[in-house]
Amino acid sequence: MDKTIGSNNWTPREFIEQAVEQIRGVVGPEQRVVCALSGGVDSSVVAFLLDRAVGERLISIFVDHGLLRKGEAEQVAGVFSSHLKGEFIQVDARELFLERLKEVTDPEQKRRIIGSTFIDVFKEKALSLGNVAFLAQGTIYPDVIESGSGGAAVIKSHHNVGGLPAELGFELIEPLRELYKDEVRLVGRELGLPEAILNRQPFPGPGLAVRVIGEVTAEKLSILREADAIFREEVEKADLAGELWQFFAIYSGVSAVGMKENERHYGPVIVLRAVVSENAMTADWARLPFELLARVSNRITGEIPDVSRVVYDITPKPPGTIEWE
Ligand code: XMP
Repeated sequence: MDKTIGSNNWTPREFIEQAVEQIRGVVGPEQRVVCALSGGVDSSVVAFLLDRAVGERLISIFVDHGLLRKGEAEQVAGVFSSHLKGEFIQVDARELFLERLKEVTDPEQKRRIIGSTFIDVFKEKALSLGNVAFLAQGTIYPDVIESGSGGAAVIKSHHNVGGLPAELGFELIEPLRELYKDEVRLVGRELGLPEAILNRQPFPGPGLAVRVIGEVTAEKLSILREADAIFREEVEKADLAGELWQFFAIYSGVSAVGMKENERHYGPVIVLRAVVSENAMTADWARLPFELLARVSNRITGEIPDVSRVVYDITPKPPGTIEWE
């Protein structure tokens, strides 16, 4: 690809044309490609691009680990199963992830378990397809830089930057290797991806598992998902989402006393976190209007009877981090 990073003679349309041509040059007319969809921007753009290039010879696998926010798994399934010409496979691995996360409280161990479980599930499904030569992955330029590898050819074989292991035996296709995030979004828009996916706020790979402090259980996830959905809905209604880098709820793992139907009741404390940032390296807590915070608090305690309190995190990064784990 003759794109120079940062040059201004680049257009998404030309990028797509060249990428499609290059992919077709590598993937033979009978060969099939598999890709892993996470619901995030990068893998979504890769799937749409591959759909353009190889059509029904693309097989997309969405591993549902049960750690996405409310409505996201349904959204991914809806968008991709209706758009893609090739096969869309949804693997329901929610129970397996919960089982493996049982009694695990260390955040790094959670991350490792989620990463390796994802690989196990994807691998089993992908290898069962038989006769698939290529794996398309949404590696983008900052991933290449962070991994310390040089060069930025569009298609590189057996050179994996994070993500899935080389032992799967597929040739890798990484068409976004030269792009920054904002360029990936432009390409995605040109390919017709829905805005709801293109503008998705950054979301950690291990998902809600690192927003449930301590052991992850189905019940805690369910409470967190509802609280997070209420917060998201109110911020969006107030038209403030565009000004925030990330905003979400955390299941703190602390119980506090509250009053429910005139009885003392110990219930979970939900934390609200909203930050402004340029690049996540530093961040400040967002000065959200008190009225908005009041509405969110009233709705969460009113609509999720178990929750006893809602608190707002007023810690910048540093010394805090954006996530709680
Ligand atoms: P922190 O919490 O370190 O987060 O201030 C910085 C940015 O990284 C995201 N984040 C993650 N993303 N896997 C990811 O893919 C992870 O394990 C992970 N942990 C944090 C976080 O949401 C923020 O945007």
